[in-house]
Amino acid sequence: MPVVRDRRGAVQVLVLDRQDALNAFSPELIGDLRAALDEVAADPGVRAVVLTGAGRAFSAGADIARMAGMDVDGAREFAALGHGMCDAIEALGVPVIAAINGFALGGGCEVALACDIRVGSERTKMAQPEVTLGIPPGWGGTQRLPRIVGEGAAKRMILTGEMVGAEEALAMGLVSSLHPPDDLLDAAVAMGGTIAAASPSAVALSKALIHDALGARPALLEAEAEAFARQFAHPDRREGMEAFLGKRPPDWAA
Ligand code: COA
Repeated sequence: MPVVRDRRGAVQVLVLDRQDALNAFSPELIGDLRAALDEVAADPGVRAVVLTGAGRAFSAGADIARMAGMDVDGAREFAALGHGMCDAIEALGVPVIAAINGFALGGGCEVALACDIRVGSERTKMAQPEVTLGIPPGWGGTQRLPRIVGEGAAKRMILTGEMVGAEEALAMGLVSSLHPPDDLLDAAVAMGGTIAAASPSAVALSKALIHDALGARPALLEAEAEAFARQFAHPDRREGMEAFLGKRPPDWAA
C-alpha cells in the first residue's frame, strides 16, 4: 500500500511510501492518502495525525512523468485531485502534523502547507519549483505559502523555485521546530500525543476557527487550479517537463 498506516496510541502515523519516485504524488498515491484520511475521520480514537515520508523525501511533488502526458482537461482533473487531498487535510477534525523528513517540493510542499503544524530535521529541503517546469503551483501553494511565510518570502520561493534548507525554513516559520533526523518521527508523535491529551472538541473548534480566519479562500484556490490547467496548453510546460525527465536544462519559448 503506498500509504503505510502505523497507529501509535491516539496518534495515527501515515507514511508516504513510493520511494522509487521520491514519494511523488501519482493519482494512486493521492487516492490512498484520501482513503487513509477517511479512515481517520471515521475513527473517534484518533486524536492527531502525523504525515511523513519513507526514504529521502517527504514528497518530491506531483508526479512529473504522469503530468507530462496530460492535456488541459487532464491537468484540470489532476489539480482537482491535489486540491481535494489538501482540502481533506484541512477539513479533518483532528490536527495533522507534517514530519518533513527530506525533500518537500512542489505538490509535496503544498501538502505540507495544508497540514496544521510542520516539523523538520537537518534533512528538510522545501521548494515550490513549478516555474522551472513551466507551470505555476497548482495545489494551493500560491494561496497557503504567503499566508504562512508572508508575501515576500513566498514570492522568493515561488518565483525562483529555489530550495530552502532546514535552518532557513525554521527562520521563515515554514517549520516550527527542527529535530535530529532519527528523532523526528518520535518528536512529531510526541507532539500529537500532547494534542491528544487536550479536549478533542476544543482542539477541533480551535483548528476550524483558525482556518476560518486565515485559511485559503475557495474561490482563489479554484482560480489557481484553473490557471494551472490552462498553462498545460503553453509550450513551456511541455518543454519544462520533458527537460526534467530528459535530465537536461529547459529551452523556454521566447
Ligand atoms: N515526479 C516523478 N518522478 C520524480 C519526481 C517527481 N516529482 N521527483 C523525483 N522523481 C524521480 C526521478 O525521476 C528519479 O527517477 P529515475 O530513478 O527513474 O530517474 C527518482 O525519482 C530519483 O530522483 P533523482 O532526480 O534521480 O534524485 P536526485 O537526488 O538527483 O534529485 C530531486 C532529487 C528531488 C532534487 C529531484 O528529483 C527533483 O528535482 N525532483 C523534481 C522536483 C519537482 O520539480 N517537483 C515539483 C513537481 S510539481
